[in-house]
Amino acid sequence: MARRYIVQTFGCQMNVHDSRRIEEVLHGEGYAPTEDAALADLIVVNTCSVREKAEHKLMSLLGTLRPYKETEREVRIAVAGCVAQQEGERLLKKAPLIDLVLGPDNIPELPRLLRELDGGAPPAVRTEFDLADPQFLVARPRGGGEVTSFVTVMKGCDERCTFCIVPTTRGSERYRPADAIVGEVAEMAAGGVREVTLLGQTVNSWFDPSELEAKPRSKAAPSGSQFADLLRRIAREVPELARLRYTSPHPRHLTDALIAAHAELPLLPRHVHLPVQSGSDRVLKRMSRRYTRRLYAERTAKLKEAAPGLTLSTDIIVGFPGETEEDFEETLSLVREVGFVSAFCFKYSPRPSTPALKLGDDVPEAVKDERLQRLFEVVEGQQRVHLKSLVGTRQEVLVEGPNDASVNRYSGRSGRHEIVHLEAPEGIDPTGQLVEVTIEKAFRHSLLGRMDGATLPERPVRRPRKKLPLLGADA
Ligand code: SAH
Ligand code: F3S
Repeated sequence: MARRYIVQTFGCQMNVHDSRRIEEVLHGEGYAPTEDAALADLIVVNTCSVREKAEHKLMSLLGTLRPYKETEREVRIAVAGCVAQQEGERLLKKAPLIDLVLGPDNIPELPRLLRELDGGAPPAVRTEFDLADPQFLVARPRGGGEVTSFVTVMKGCDERCTFCIVPTTRGSERYRPADAIVGEVAEMAAGGVREVTLLGQTVNSWFDPSELEAKPRSKAAPSGSQFADLLRRIAREVPELARLRYTSPHPRHLTDALIAAHAELPLLPRHVHLPVQSGSDRVLKRMSRRYTRRLYAERTAKLKEAAPGLTLSTDIIVGFPGETEEDFEETLSLVREVGFVSAFCFKYSPRPSTPALKLGDDVPEAVKDERLQRLFEVVEGQQRVHLKSLVGTRQEVLVEGPNDASVNRYSGRSGRHEIVHLEAPEGIDPTGQLVEVTIEKAFRHSLLGRMDGATLPERPVRRPRKKLPLLGADA
């Protein structure tokens, strides 16, 4: 019988995407997925190290895996992702039950490493970056009726924000050739995917690698990004795609060309997630974000002008070293000024080998908690007002799948990425379709809509796809 594996993913969308590639290389090696960790011959934990808690979660998860190692069967445990990259050999010492430590660039080596373990080799650590010859594993359409999918356009990060461990765990920037990106998007669309999200740590700094010589070297220089051209090319060459998103852009590379692309291309949804981190220039400078509060506000105002109705969400860190009450209030005022409709808000946590370490961690935990709470209240308030303002409007929703097919309940996303729940007319499965919906009610974080089913072709009702149960809570 085929050997079985289970993958547990922590962290960002990049990791979710990497986990899919891990699954694919395992399928190529004859492994089959299982939903039950107790039946797995291989347990892969794909880790995140961007904040402290994620590492703690890994350690407690490894503790819960110990009983599986103590059974009669040979069970292997592999730790992949950013904690693997960051800790390398140290991880084997901390948790001797681990068989493999695998960095994000070493996923293609997994089958060989497993074979070597079978042959009696000791636990192995592979955490080399593929800087000289960057590899981008092709994402295969899954054939399970997936409506949305990710396509990687670049990996690594050269920005080196002082709080962030990503440049250490993911290495320097490497870009994927445009032909490969467009080819993968086209293949996804041909397989039924309607929405593609382009992925990269600073996705809008993308540059075609064949033209890298032309890329401005100076960090202070305005971005020479060719990302807008890439969006235009995808829109032109993959017309069957319904939506094209990207995450996460850096404000420094929100160029005029990218703003113009938002005005031009109906394929781009009217929503952008643009991490700001702080509204205080003093803090932004110490974070080495390379933009001012004013620049952020001006660029986003220009973007909204070019694409009326566009909403923004963001990432914010509270309690960065030296952050005063005044600095924090500037963050609150920027949140109001820009009118973010949602935000991921984090308490600063010192990360190994980051430049901010030398600034200390001088904002007391209680102050961080209090600021986080105040920030949540402002963001939630804005989200509530925004969602309420949509009641009674008509929205185009891309239906992503059933919540409960037995009672015809589905959910999807509006053109501005709001979650919309809807009830489909009897006998109609709108999964994968763009449907017109009238918004009837606003919940805290989502909307309820009524679908006008008359215009839809009928399709047989599909059963909901089963999700792999989690071994532990996600990060
Ligand atoms: N450009 C990346 C950012 C990755 S980190 C992307 O979004 O794809 C994601 C978010 O985690 C950052 O935007 C930041 O808000 C937060 N973060 C990163 N390092 C952190 C730290 N040391 N403490 C708290 N939050 C952090
Ligand atoms: Fe991290 Fe800043 Fe890059 S947040 S991923 S160093 S843009």
